[in-house]
Parts: sequence; C-alpha cells; structure tokens
Amino acid sequence: MSVSNNQNISLETADKIELTDSQFKKLSDFIYLNYGIKMPVAKRIMLQSRLIKRLRALSFSNFNEYIDYVFSEKGNMEEIIQMMDVVSTNKTDFFREPGHFDFITQFILPELNKNYYINNTFKVWSAGSSSGEEAYSIAITLQEWANTNKGFKYFITGSDISLTMLNTASKAIYEEKRIEVIPDSIKHKYFLKSKDRTKKLVRLIPELRSKTNFFRLNFMDADYKINEKYDLIFCRNTLIYFDRETQDKVLVKLSKYLKPDGFLFIGHSESILSREIPFKQIKPTIYRLSEK
Ligand SMILES: C[S@@+](CC[C@H](N)C(=O)[O-])C[C@H]1O[C@@H](n2cnc3c(N)ncnc32)[C@H](O)[C@@H]1O
Repeated sequence: MSVSNNQNISLETADKIELTDSQFKKLSDFIYLNYGIKMPVAKRIMLQSRLIKRLRALSFSNFNEYIDYVFSEKGNMEEIIQMMDVVSTNKTDFFREPGHFDFITQFILPELNKNYYINNTFKVWSAGSSSGEEAYSIAITLQEWANTNKGFKYFITGSDISLTMLNTASKAIYEEKRIEVIPDSIKHKYFLKSKDRTKKLVRLIPELRSKTNFFRLNFMDADYKINEKYDLIFCRNTLIYFDRETQDKVLVKLSKYLKPDGFLFIGHSESILSREIPFKQIKPTIYRLSEK
C-alpha cells in the first residue's frame, strides 16, 4: 500500500526507517545550538516519527539522505524551517491561563493615567505566539477596555519561529470549537462565522486583525531587530523548551524591549530564578521590569 499524496515511501517502509542514535545526535545538537530547544535522548522516537513526514514529502528513503539534504554545503534554510515546524510544540488556546487577562484589566489598565492615552499606544508583544490565539485574546481584552475608555489605543505584535503557525495567526481563521471557552457575548462581538456552515470556522473581525501583526523571530538570534518597546511582553509556555542558561539569556534580551515598569508574563510551569534578570515578581508568573 503506498502513501497518498505522491510520496514513494510505503507505510510499511516508513515504519522501518529508524533515526539512529548518531543521526539523532546530529539533529538534536543542531536544534539545541541554533534554536535553544532541548532534545534529550528520550525524544528520539518522537523526532523520528515527526520527521518521517518530511522524508515522505521529499521522497527520501532514509535519514542519512535527509540529514545530508538539511546540512548541505550552505545549510538548507528552507528545510531547516520545515524541520523546526515539526519539532516545536505549538499547543495554545484562547484565554489560556485566564488570570493573566484578568490581571491586565483589573490592575494594569486602571493604572494608566488618562494623559497616557493622548500620546501613547499601549503595545504588547506575544513572543512565541504560535497560531495567534494568545495575541487575539490580548486584543479582545484591550478592545473591551477601549470600548469604555475613550482614546485608549493599542497594538499587538506576535512572533514565532514557525512559519506555519505565523500563517495561521495572520489569517485568524479557527475552528469554531476553539472559541467555545469564550463567553457568547464576546464571541458574537469579535468573531464572524463562515458563510459555509458545513465548515464550522470562525474568523476574528477585521478591526481587531488590523491591530495585530506577526513576524518570524528566533529567540536565539543575536539581534532581534526590534526598534520599539512594549508595555507588556507575553512569553508563555515557550521558555520551558530551553535549558536554564538559554532561558536566562532570552529573558535578559526580552527585558530590553520592555518600557520602564513594563510587565512580563510567563507560563505557569515556568519561573525566573536568575538574579541577573531585572524583574521584580508581582505574582507567581507576572514580573515587572525594575532597572537597578
Ligand atoms: C507551546 S507554544 C506557546 C504558545 C503561547 N505562547 C501559549 O502560551 O499558548 C510555544 C511556541 O514557541 C515557539 N518557539 C519554539 N522555539 C522557538 C525559538 N527558538 N524562537 C521563537 N519561537 C520559538 C514554537 O514554535 C511555539 O509556537
């Protein structure tokens, strides 16, 4: 039985293609060095099964061919991007860790002086935005505030390493069941249903889409090439894939893009331990920049 969509590896053969320990090491060292993502040996089978899809798509019959292709003389950037797409974990949700959104509405926004509205746009960076749900949950939270606080302006930037995720994020089209967690009154205001009801898709309204943009950024890059500072940075459930040293380096870099007194939000299974990082803890996963 051959696999559909024109690949020439049969399912039986795919089962037998093994990513050996030394092949795994080559790939995992590369991924760690360039993207900061830890790949302990226990992840070998996971990497093998995820990458077999790439072997099929490229019609390779073993991992040596694939590795030669990835590490061809110049480094095959196109394939590296594809590889990172299958390697990274993109799980996300609308209003994931809802306490963060309540904190914005209850503590951060009321603190802003009304004069702030005149000269400033409230800027948020969703760093490691995956498919956009986090950025759009922030957009909805801020738009709700804008509805009752005249003159409040905001903009949200999302970044991720995965082009596939960024593409979904920019389109802002989701399966309807993904927004079940959102109260009806909010859903009706901010999402449009697909005309073809057999598809059960929704799309964020254009007014909110126009207040967001997305770009590709690798946290490991030496220079993030960002020329602005943010009031809030969300970097949630992303640092967890990096080792401590890499996490600290990324956090120091992120701190440079916060406005004075800006807030950083991390995921509930993450923490900041290094004293070198200029953040004061406000709540277990909420930090505020405090320059020494
Ligand atoms: C689990 S998702 C988190 C999404 C969202 N922040 C949330 O909490 O729901 C982690 C995201 O980090 C991205 N990521 C992993 N390594 C990265 C790197 N080196 N640079 C930038 N983004 C990275 C992945 O592509 C993925 O979309």
